[in-house]
Amino acid sequence: MSAMCGIFGYVGSREDAGKIVVDGLKHLEYRGYDSWGISYKCEDELIKIEKETGKISSVNSNDFCQKSSIAIAHTRWATHGGVSKCNAHPHLSEDGSISVVHNGIIENYQDLRNELKNKGYNFASETDSEVIPHLIQEELKSCSDFSTAVRNACKRFEGRFAVLAMDSNSQTLVAARTGSPLIVGVEKADNGKIDGFFIASDIPAFMEYSKTVQYLDDGEMVVTDGNKIVFTDLETGEEHPKREIEITWNAEKANKGEYDHFMLKEIMEQKDSVARAVNQDEEQIKTIANAIRNAKGTFLIGCGTAHKSCMAGEYFFSIIAQHHVNVSSAGEFKPYHHFLQPESLVIVVSQSGETADVLEAMNIAKEKGSKVLAIVNVEGSTIAREADYTLLINAGPERAVASTKALTGQMAVLILIAYAMIDKLQDGKKQLLDATALINDMLNPRYIDFLRGVAGQIHTHEDLYIIGKSWNFPMALESAIKIQEVSYIHAEGFAGSELKHGPIALVEEGTPCIALIGNDELKGDIIGNTIELKARGAKIIGIAPENNEVFDTWIKVPDAAAAQAIINIIPVQVLSYFLAVQRGKDPDMPRNLAKSVTVK
Ligand code: M6R
Repeated sequence: MSAMCGIFGYVGSREDAGKIVVDGLKHLEYRGYDSWGISYKCEDELIKIEKETGKISSVNSNDFCQKSSIAIAHTRWATHGGVSKCNAHPHLSEDGSISVVHNGIIENYQDLRNELKNKGYNFASETDSEVIPHLIQEELKSCSDFSTAVRNACKRFEGRFAVLAMDSNSQTLVAARTGSPLIVGVEKADNGKIDGFFIASDIPAFMEYSKTVQYLDDGEMVVTDGNKIVFTDLETGEEHPKREIEITWNAEKANKGEYDHFMLKEIMEQKDSVARAVNQDEEQIKTIANAIRNAKGTFLIGCGTAHKSCMAGEYFFSIIAQHHVNVSSAGEFKPYHHFLQPESLVIVVSQSGETADVLEAMNIAKEKGSKVLAIVNVEGSTIAREADYTLLINAGPERAVASTKALTGQMAVLILIAYAMIDKLQDGKKQLLDATALINDMLNPRYIDFLRGVAGQIHTHEDLYIIGKSWNFPMALESAIKIQEVSYIHAEGFAGSELKHGPIALVEEGTPCIALIGNDELKGDIIGNTIELKARGAKIIGIAPENNEVFDTWIKVPDAAAAQAIINIIPVQVLSYFLAVQRGKDPDMPRNLAKSVTVK
């Protein structure tokens, strides 16, 4: 059982390492929240481990305030098998001197496990991760120091992973990366003397203490005792010089403000976040537009909601710029790899900048010599750092698992580029800024209350269908994702014209169906599809600038021309939120999900 998760460790002169890692882990919960665990070393004692199922956010860090200057921690999202205390990390070596947290997959763990069992090692969990501390202990028999043992163990692992190991004898932390992110934070006293080091999956874990960071690249290992840190090549052991980078951005405090949930807060923030996405360096947008025009094949790639913004992008480029681009879900990109050539352009779209499938697509593109443009929200993320060009959408932190403001920011950037391709960047910018004013007007308290009421009419239904045409078709697919992931209602999106080729058989008397409609040349067609649904007994919720007699409920939206897809998805986001709340679900942390999907 492998895990996708957040990892964090500290070693240094501070004496509350347990508390530090628990507090830091709370910033990594978006990477997984089915269980958590920490291990730390108090004076003269072996390693102490505390782990539990459930969310780290509900844990009081003051309970871990015993004197300790070294600790590691983990928040987990299991990819296979059950969620249980014994499967939670950290995992201990047989002799109890080494503890390990792990993100990723050890693909050959079954062979290693059998080999170690034959040598007398006992396994307390069903995880792949537990082979790591045992193998390190085994490797220590044939080498003198802990870091060499970790290196030798890592060389035997197949797959993409990040490992953080703590040794109670040498009081050192060793971390290695072959795919999943790891970042070092350096804490210094005023006189520049090193005070300690943090090693984490993401910067917010240690930002309170340090904004000086060093990134581990794939295939690197790092060793620290809290006084100094050494980066080496994982394979050869050759030392790698490492730059210190000062982070200039702030991790906005996780603060729900006046809202009960981040999801609603983030939906409401679209009043401003779309405008921030539009506010790009114009010369850079023109350069990108040129690159798309000149590329031999442009590919738009993302996962989940980001994939839906790519699909919308295909319509934006076709309708606005009359330019064809290829769209693929990152996980389905493999059959198309052979089309990539040095003159191709791959545009990867990702809120987190850490999604494993997107990273893999990006790496393949780079191997083939193609240029990569990343449209990303999280500054400093792996994708943002490793792409040839990066456009930040500047949506601000998105904490709710359901992606909302990132989607509209991504679509705004794609519309902007499409207009730049026909040398009408200013027109595109104006349309988008007009749309942000419309979002501001739309998201008023009466409108939100009205949507709460609409959710109240349908929240007991178990099936819901959404239709759209043109750029409203990917928005229908996106609507389904939003409703499924937070309310657990079975929702499906379709192209309006596809209904009578099969899906219409699902519609029964009273089935709620949402139609996403714009004031465009396809309006008549989608109204026709809506009438067909109504004729089979569907209750129609029309999201459209104008009312129509076919609607049982009309959710009015402003007419926003090319930005209609952005406008139309917003009431669905609000509706999804209320469906979740009215069904007693937590919209911020839905079951079985994690914010950042760092395994394939
Ligand atoms: O961070 P990314 O944008 O790369 O994430 C991609 C998907 O995992 C993400 O959009 C997911 O589908 C959302 N939870 C949907 O709301």
